[in-house]
Amino acid sequence: MKLLFLNGPNLNMLGIREPDIYGRKTYADLEAFIGDFCRELGIEYEIRQSNYEGGLVDAIQAAYGKMDGIVINPAAYTHTSVAVLDALKAVALPAVEVHISAVSEREDFRQISYAGMACVKTYAGYGFDGYRMAAEYLLERG
Ligand code: DQA
Repeated sequence: MKLLFLNGPNLNMLGIREPDIYGRKTYADLEAFIGDFCRELGIEYEIRQSNYEGGLVDAIQAAYGKMDGIVINPAAYTHTSVAVLDALKAVALPAVEVHISAVSEREDFRQISYAGMACVKTYAGYGFDGYRMAAEYLLERG
């Protein structure tokens, strides 16, 4: 099983940005966490982060024919991007949406998820653990 872990804008600022919401662990910590559980679970993986909508679209398209699934935290583009939604639909890979924070308990504008419309599952509010839960879900789903 090969998974793409794709993170959207400002997630590279983890540890610095709004620590009360996102915690004090850094993006490097997240990459290390993903690497550790992937090795443990026998998952091959790639991790990408982009601050650009087109960068996320390119990464999703590049997964076609190469990856078995996508774990995506589109960050702010979750709530705005039809392009990310269309890219997920285009490649038609099983995708799981992850949010570090509990978006359902936050502002109204975070209540819509375009990307989520093309995802088989969402984990939000579990911190970094959501990424592992998403990978385990895709692994079990096969
Ligand atoms: C986020 C939630 C989004 O609403 C926000 O724009 C982010 C991060 C999360 O992981 O909790 O940048 O996706």
